[in-house]
Amino acid sequence: MQDKNTILVLGGTGSCGQFFVQHALDAGYIVRVLSRNPQRITEDRFSWAVHQNLELVQGDLTDLETLSPACEGISAVVSLAGPPLSAKESMMPEAIRNTVVAMRQHSVKRLIVQTGGFVKLKGETSNLVERSAKGAFGLFMKEKATLEGNDKVSLFLQEECMDIDWTMTRPGMLSDKGVEGVVEAAFKYGPGMPADHPSKIDLTRWYIDLLDDQKSFYKAPAPQYAKQDFGFAQQRVNGEKRVAVITGANSGLGFETARVLLLKGMRVICACRSVEKAKQAVEALRTLTIERPDAAEQDISFMELDVSSLDSVRRFAQAFLKLDIPLHVLLCNAGIMMGPQRQSVDGIDLQIATNYLGHFLLCSLLEEKLKASAPARVVHVSSVAARMGTIDFSNLNPVSQPYSSMKAYQMSKLMQVVFSRELNRRLEGTGVTSNSLEPGIVATNLSKGITDSAQMRSHIENGVSVEEGAKTQIFLCSSMKVHEKGGGNYVNCIDHAKGLLKFKYILAAHSLRHSVDAHLWEESEALIESHSPTSS
Ligand SMILES: NC(=O)c1ccc[n+]([C@@H]2O[C@H](COP(=O)([O-])OP(=O)(O)OC[C@H]3O[C@@H](n4cnc5c(N)ncnc54)[C@H](OP(=O)(O)O)[C@@H]3O)[C@@H](O)[C@H]2O)c1
Repeated sequence: MQDKNTILVLGGTGSCGQFFVQHALDAGYIVRVLSRNPQRITEDRFSWAVHQNLELVQGDLTDLETLSPACEGISAVVSLAGPPLSAKESMMPEAIRNTVVAMRQHSVKRLIVQTGGFVKLKGETSNLVERSAKGAFGLFMKEKATLEGNDKVSLFLQEECMDIDWTMTRPGMLSDKGVEGVVEAAFKYGPGMPADHPSKIDLTRWYIDLLDDQKSFYKAPAPQYAKQDFGFAQQRVNGEKRVAVITGANSGLGFETARVLLLKGMRVICACRSVEKAKQAVEALRTLTIERPDAAEQDISFMELDVSSLDSVRRFAQAFLKLDIPLHVLLCNAGIMMGPQRQSVDGIDLQIATNYLGHFLLCSLLEEKLKASAPARVVHVSSVAARMGTIDFSNLNPVSQPYSSMKAYQMSKLMQVVFSRELNRRLEGTGVTSNSLEPGIVATNLSKGITDSAQMRSHIENGVSVEEGAKTQIFLCSSMKVHEKGGGNYVNCIDHAKGLLKFKYILAAHSLRHSVDAHLWEESEALIESHSPTSS
C-alpha cells in the first residue's frame, strides 16, 4: 500500500461516500473532500469531520476552477457522487469530464468512479429482463437522469480516457445494513452483474483495495461477498496494523492462529510461559510469514506470561499497557488438559487456574485497553468437553480428593463459555465483543500433558490437523462476518448458542442458565481475591 497518499473524494458526504472517507482515513490516507458546503461537515453528522488527515476543500464537482486546485498533489480521485433524486439531468458526465481535465493538468492517473448496476460496457448486451428492469427503475424510482448520466460516464471513460487508469464500479442494489463481510471483485475482474447486495460499508471498504489494484484498470469489476474473509485482520487503523495478543502462541492452535493473523496483516504478540519456546516460535513465525504485508520487525514479538499465576498475569498486563499500543484481539487460548492433580503457585487447581481463572483476570486487567481500541474482540478457546461439564459452585477449586482430572477440565472449559457470555453482556455498547469456541479434536501438544488417560491421549493424537482445528478461532479473530457480534459459542464457524443447535449443550444445561453467568463472575473475583498475596 502507498504510504500516506493524498486522495481526492467526490461525493464524500453521500450515503456511500461517507463510509469510504472513514475507511480511507483508517487506512492511513490523507483524504481531501470536495464539498459545496464544507461548513456543513461537522462531527455530529460525520464521525470523521475532525480527523487530522482530512482536508476539506470548498468547490463544485462540475466546476473546473475548483476541481483543478483540488487535484494538486494527489495520487487518485474516487468519485462516489451522484445527482439528487428526481433530477432532470445528471451532472455526472460533466463532473467526470472536468475531473479528468483537472487530473491531466496535475498528472494524476488513478480514477475510480462508482456508477450503477444497469451500466453496460461496450460489447455487453442487456437481455429483456434487464431492459425492463432498467426502464421501470428509471420511471418509478425517478432515476432516469441518473441512469442516462451513468451510461454517458461509462462511454466517456471507455472512449476518451485510455491515458487514465480508471476503474468503473457498478454495485447495483446496495444494502443499508451494517457490516456483513468483505467485498471482493467477482468474475476475475471481468464484467458482470453483482451476485448479491453488499452493504455500503463493506462495498466502500473494497475501494481501498481497488486503489492499488492494477488488474481493475479499464474494467468494471462486479462486487460480491468473499466466501472467506479476513477483513478485520486486514483493516488498518490510522494506517497501523491491528494488534492481537495470543496466549499460548508457541504451540498448536495458538501458533497456527498467530501464523494466519500475521499473514493477513496483523501485529501479533505471543504471550508464553517459556521464554525459550517463545523465542523459537517467534523465529519460526518470522520465517513462515516472510510474505506478510509490509513485513516489519515489530509485527511479531513475545511477552512472558504464565497464565496460571495471578502475579504473572498482573505483570504481563502492566507490561503490555506500558507499550501504549492498542489491543484489537485478545485470544485466550493457552490451556492444559487433564494430567495429575496439581495446583498453581496461588494454590488453585492448575487446570482451573490455566484454562479459566488466569484468563478471567487478564480480560479484566485489559478491559479498558480493549474498550479504548474498539472495535475489539475477546475470543476464548473452549472445548466440546464444556458440553459434558458442570460448574460446581461448592467446589470451584477442586483441591480435595477424589480428583477427577476429566471433570476439572470439563468445568474449566464450561467456565470459559459462561464467562465469555457474561463478559459480552457487560461489554455491550462498548464495541468490544466476546465469543467462545470449540476447535474439535485436534492433534497438538495438548495430548502430551494427558498422563492419566491413554484413551484420551490417543484420541487427541489422532485428531484433525492444526490448520483444520484453528479455523474457528481464526474466523472469530479475523472475519467481518462476526463484526460487533458477541455472546456466541462457535463450532465450525457457526454459532451453537443459537436456535436448535444449543440443545447440544443438554448435559451442561444447568450451568448454562443465565443466572449462573453473574454468579460465576462474582465467585471468580472472590477466588482471585482470596488467593492474592494481599489477602493472606
Ligand atoms: N487439541 C485439541 O483437541 C483441543 C480440543 C479442545 C480445546 N482445545 C484447547 O485449545 C487450546 C490450545 O491447545 P492446543 O491444542 O493448541 O495445545 P498445545 O499445543 O499444547 O498448546 C497449548 C499452549 O498453551 C500454553 N500454556 C499451557 N499452560 C500455560 C500457562 N500456564 N501459561 C501460558 N501458556 C500456557 C502452552 O505452552 P507450553 O508449550 O509452554 O506448554 C502452549 O503454548 C487449549 O485451551 C485447549 O484446551 C484443544
